[in-house]
Amino acid sequence: MSNSAQPVPKIKILFVCLGNICRSPTAEAVFRKLVETEGLSDYFEIDSAGTAGYHIGEMADSRSIRHAQRRGYDLTPHRARRIEVEDLDYYDYIVAMDEDNYSDIAALCTTQWKKLKRFMDFAPETGYDEIPDPYYRGAEAFELALDLAEKAAKGLLDFVKEKHLSNLPREQKA
Ligand code: 4NP
Repeated sequence: MSNSAQPVPKIKILFVCLGNICRSPTAEAVFRKLVETEGLSDYFEIDSAGTAGYHIGEMADSRSIRHAQRRGYDLTPHRARRIEVEDLDYYDYIVAMDEDNYSDIAALCTTQWKKLKRFMDFAPETGYDEIPDPYYRGAEAFELALDLAEKAAKGLLDFVKEKHLSNLPREQKA
């Protein structure tokens, strides 16, 4: 019996920072665009959240929107939300932007630690182990956040493809 009609389960990825207005919406948009470029959107569900609730319901930081827009990423649909305990079960990967985010999420985990990842572990060539928080900094910090997100997104996608999508037709593996 053919199973071609079976829906492919989506790989669910949640990017997490502190406020969910700068780094994690940036990582979400960069990763989403990369997935679209590779024709893999049907295989993914992508979102972002913050460990703090300061900005719930707000748009992304205007500086993040502006810098991202210059590179072709649209952050305007984003609205900030806080990570919830249910997210830990729902998502396959929960990807922290910095070490504080990582430990704050780890404190919520009961059995889900293996899902918890450090974003910059996927771009060791950068020498960065986290994306520095740009919120109280200038334009260069927002550019750096984009540079690092672009590199780590590639590494993360390679990791996920290898682990979950290795049976795809050749043309979708590029
Ligand atoms: P994010 O940046 O965690 O990258 O979204 C921040 C946003 C807001 C604040 C700190 C960092 N804040 O203190 O309000």
